[in-house]
Amino acid sequence: MTANKTILRALAGETLPTPPIWMMRQAGRYLPEYRATRAKAGDFLSLCYNPELAAEVTLQPIRRYGFDGSILFADILLVPQALGADLWFVTGEGPRLSTITQSTLDLMEAAGLGRAMFSDVDPNPTEMNAEAGIKVYRDGGHDGVIAFGGGSGLDLGKVIAFMAGQTRPLWDFEDIGDWWTRADPEGIAPIVAVPTTAGTGSEVGRASVITNSQSHEKKIIFHPKMLPAVVICDPELTVGMPPMITAGTGMDAFAHCLEAFCSPHYHPMSQGMALEGMRLVKEYLPRAYADGSDLEARGHMMSAAAMGATAFQKGLGAIHAISHPIGAVHHTHHGTTNAVVMQPVLRMNRPAIEGRLAKAAAYLDIVGGFDGFYDFVGKLNEELNIPSSLTALGVTDPDIDALVASALQDPSCGGNPIELTKENVTQLLRDCL
Ligand SMILES: [Fe+2]
Repeated sequence: MTANKTILRALAGETLPTPPIWMMRQAGRYLPEYRATRAKAGDFLSLCYNPELAAEVTLQPIRRYGFDGSILFADILLVPQALGADLWFVTGEGPRLSTITQSTLDLMEAAGLGRAMFSDVDPNPTEMNAEAGIKVYRDGGHDGVIAFGGGSGLDLGKVIAFMAGQTRPLWDFEDIGDWWTRADPEGIAPIVAVPTTAGTGSEVGRASVITNSQSHEKKIIFHPKMLPAVVICDPELTVGMPPMITAGTGMDAFAHCLEAFCSPHYHPMSQGMALEGMRLVKEYLPRAYADGSDLEARGHMMSAAAMGATAFQKGLGAIHAISHPIGAVHHTHHGTTNAVVMQPVLRMNRPAIEGRLAKAAAYLDIVGGFDGFYDFVGKLNEELNIPSSLTALGVTDPDIDALVASALQDPSCGGNPIELTKENVTQLLRDCL
């Protein structure tokens, strides 16, 4: 069965004949270490959700990772038709995306799938960006979203698709309790996600992070159907990322894996994914940073990003709990902020994670157990020229009390291996300055 036929059958709701939760076929000319498997060059990594398995297994309905730019364009035409939407809406941000999004628009138009784009998105997308995009989408009568971008572009595209047919305001769907059940699932448009960075993993996530422009709080908007129906990962799209963004987004992927790995919740699948994700970042982020055209490194970082975001279904922790309010108030880069606060968080959590991180260190070929792992994070940050403190990152004169209050409200708190309190988060923030 060709990959395309597999995808079309899965999209049509057909149970695939093979039973695995994850069907992985990966090769591609840039990933030699996987060539020993059955896959051959030109195959793809597909992650398929088998609906007959336990409902708790909420991996993605279908994922596909291509490692050749030509794959992208073939699929861009196939996928929207398979999803049953005729008039598509493209979202993306930044000048780096202009070539790829314009090419996509040309292809879409030629195939009769419409020509519409919205690209007005802030680095930390707000409800105002969302409202503007939703208006353009509704006015144009579209019925599907193709979201290009890093976390900002993907999160905005997902929110536009989610809100397309809702009647309640956006904040009614914040990730609190069962608020997501307020949404009309029929009103959610299908999403095709095309990541252009390797870190956020938003392409495999069921939520978007949207900043409230009034309160400067980052809010998580969640619904299971916000999970993109199809993801097209092509490492060539990440080649143009400047080194600083490569480093920051890559460390976001590492933070997802690390926090998921340290989270006390039970999810052994995530645990394994997080561990291997950390290994990929350790091996390949320095290479991608040093040589942005290294497609093997870019490909592995793309995998690590998707793995980290899938793994953090197990939970995040204090890194994200403090990074979210810092980013919302001080407009710092999310992944870079995570990298800056990573060592202080490891110090704080040490009593609860020492043994666990010693195991991770052993797998990552790091000697010295917890201390070795801790030193490795410091050296990696140095190699990537990550600022050494929040002050060096540009966070000046912070309102610590307000940041602590926001951090303690952040949903990431629940996954931290020790309970977060006003006292320890205050101390943590002071340690990060
Ligand atoms: Fe993150």
